[in-house]
Amino acid sequence: MRNAPVTPHRVPGESLIERAAKVYDFGEQLRARRPIPDLLPEAAPAAPPPPVEERYAPVLADDAPAFMPPPGFDQDAPVARTVRPAAGAPEFVAPRADGNRVEAIDRARLAQMGMIVPGAPIGSLAEEFRLIKRQLLLTAGKMSGVRARTILVGSARPGDGKTWSAINLALSIAAERDTEVLLVDADFAKPDVMVKLGLDDGPGLLDALADPDLDPEALVVRTDVPHLSLLPVGAKSHGDTELLASRRTGEVLDRLLAADPRRLILFDTPPALAASPASVLALHVGQVMLVVRADRTTESEVRRAVQLLDGCDEIQLVLNSVSFVPGGNRFGSYYGQGE
Ligand SMILES: Nc1ncnc2c1ncn2[C@@H]1O[C@H](COP(=O)(O)OP(=O)(O)OP(=O)(O)O)[C@@H](O)[C@H]1O
Ligand SMILES: [Mg+2]
Repeated sequence: MRNAPVTPHRVPGESLIERAAKVYDFGEQLRARRPIPDLLPEAAPAAPPPPVEERYAPVLADDAPAFMPPPGFDQDAPVARTVRPAAGAPEFVAPRADGNRVEAIDRARLAQMGMIVPGAPIGSLAEEFRLIKRQLLLTAGKMSGVRARTILVGSARPGDGKTWSAINLALSIAAERDTEVLLVDADFAKPDVMVKLGLDDGPGLLDALADPDLDPEALVVRTDVPHLSLLPVGAKSHGDTELLASRRTGEVLDRLLAADPRRLILFDTPPALAASPASVLALHVGQVMLVVRADRTTESEVRRAVQLLDGCDEIQLVLNSVSFVPGGNRFGSYYGQGE
């Protein structure tokens, strides 16, 4: 990898993940993973998954089936094939009777930030995220166990586009007819998900981790985007990483997964090189989507981030801002919203 901006050649239909893999040769890195002791987080590795406590219903069966990709995903089809949008999906959902908050996402704000706008005509940005989504869903479909339905969105450094990508990916997955997506803000230092969606923060992940009697599902925020819900970061404390490293994290995750068998959980995380939560969370998830900012992330930074997130076996790279112009609204150098 070079320090200078890189502009990978684009083959039509090729996803950003595939382009990233070509630009950054991580094959060797990912095959022979060697932890760097001084970079590993201090937090202890996660304990074996605890039995799900009785108070949580429904209880996960030991032989819980692998995540099934939604209809329309042909697992054997070449990756370059794009997926048709779910036609006729309703734009707004009625408030639920279960008492959870239902919040209206600020579409104008999304448009302003150059992000996917639910209900807007499918633009090229949405197409890019379809390809990324497809790759992630296919990988999830090949994995066994409920944790296949969890994806961590991370990056090496601040400002690489983790939150931007996590929200776009969540919106893209939410457009699937038969998949629910829960976007969890796990960036304890700089929680940004709710702000970017124009919503107020509230109780969330950290509260659920801190209080074993709190049902995390009760903190989930429904949105007026069909199939999309959110879990804010919650109240911060001094021992957030230790909380995350505790066995309670596995319980919370299993509870959120058990609440809806169609649910896929995305985690927005802090920069892997700057804070330890991402590497701790990586031990729990099925896949990591590592956002690489093409115009400034160095090779050594990406390699160190991969090593820190090594607790997860499936690390996919996404090349962001191949040709990033400040103030521009492009994901890669080829598309902009609505083009
Ligand atoms: N491809 C892109 N096109 C346009 N704007 C982008 C793109 N990627 C990121 N941005 C913008 O760059 C800024 C930083 O992105 P973002 O907040 O997602 O980064 P981050 O990795 O989550 O940062 P942090 O580590 O501080 O949480 C934001 O203003 C975001 O809207
Ligand atoms: Mg962020």
